[in-house]
Amino acid sequence: MTNILVTGQPPGDCLDRLAEHGELEVWRGEEAMPRHALLEALADVDGFYSMLADAINGELLDAAPRLRVVSNFAVGVDNVDLAACTARGIPVGHTPDVLTGTTADTAFGLLIMAARRLVEGVDYVRAGRWQRWEPELLWGLDVHGTTLGIVGMGRIGRAIAERGRGFGMRVVYTATAPKPDVDAALDARYLPLPELLAEADHVVVATALTGSTRHLIDAAALARMRPTATLVNISRGGTVDPDALYEALAAGRIAAAGLDVTEPEPIPPDHPLLGLANCVILPHLGSSSRATRVAMADLAADNLLAGLAGERLPACANPEVYAAPGG
Ligand code: DGY
Repeated sequence: MTNILVTGQPPGDCLDRLAEHGELEVWRGEEAMPRHALLEALADVDGFYSMLADAINGELLDAAPRLRVVSNFAVGVDNVDLAACTARGIPVGHTPDVLTGTTADTAFGLLIMAARRLVEGVDYVRAGRWQRWEPELLWGLDVHGTTLGIVGMGRIGRAIAERGRGFGMRVVYTATAPKPDVDAALDARYLPLPELLAEADHVVVATALTGSTRHLIDAAALARMRPTATLVNISRGGTVDPDALYEALAAGRIAAAGLDVTEPEPIPPDHPLLGLANCVILPHLGSSSRATRVAMADLAADNLLAGLAGERLPACANPEVYAAPGG
């Protein structure tokens, strides 16, 4: 008997599809599956359809001796120790491409919300404070015609750059190396991070969370930004130091922030960032449109079923597993 564990409730009909190939256990709790229950459940599991809150590390793999495939319901795999999976010959699936446009839309929405103070405007109306049209009411910062700095020029970074060009923005970006195709297609310019931070009117973080990007945006980075600059984080909360961000926003060293992701996540309701009018926070909605989440669910199911069948995953985050001994 093939056993499949799913630690969330993917939309669409992918659970029916999975059920045709094995015995399904689906976690339907409100919160992430508790660690002890997860480790216990994995004892006889062959395929693990995971959520981004599940830490997939050596401890978990030790608890799952039968595991043949991990399929993460996200493009980001910072919750997965890829090297440990590869060492055990376990391919890891993820969901690139299908969420690129939706996530870039969210980044742009957050940028405009934060820069133009739209949430403050909504709160103002809801509080019954709107008495008349006022020339100086809730002035924000322009987005069109300004310089957009993108940290991380992968698929999502590029889609954000395309949206920026539609707004008549100049695009500068930082990445592991310049990308001549992006420069040519979008009239974009590669800059090292310190120069990008100093030059951009709006900075959007779209880089994967790794050991080298953890707290990439720290106090020193924030100090390089313009006092009129906006910071948007669409990647993972861990790329931005939340204490440093609070200090910078509270002291007016940068103008505003828009966060789709936080550290920790979920952010506790009494977190100081939530008390700031110039900080807009969303509950990790980057890819959250119906069509995109169904597409992610289907791709994650395709990855899982391919892994169980011993076939190459359609979207594999550790392709080196196929070259590894036992892969
Ligand atoms: C991902 O897929 O990594 C996203 O963060 C989910 O929206």
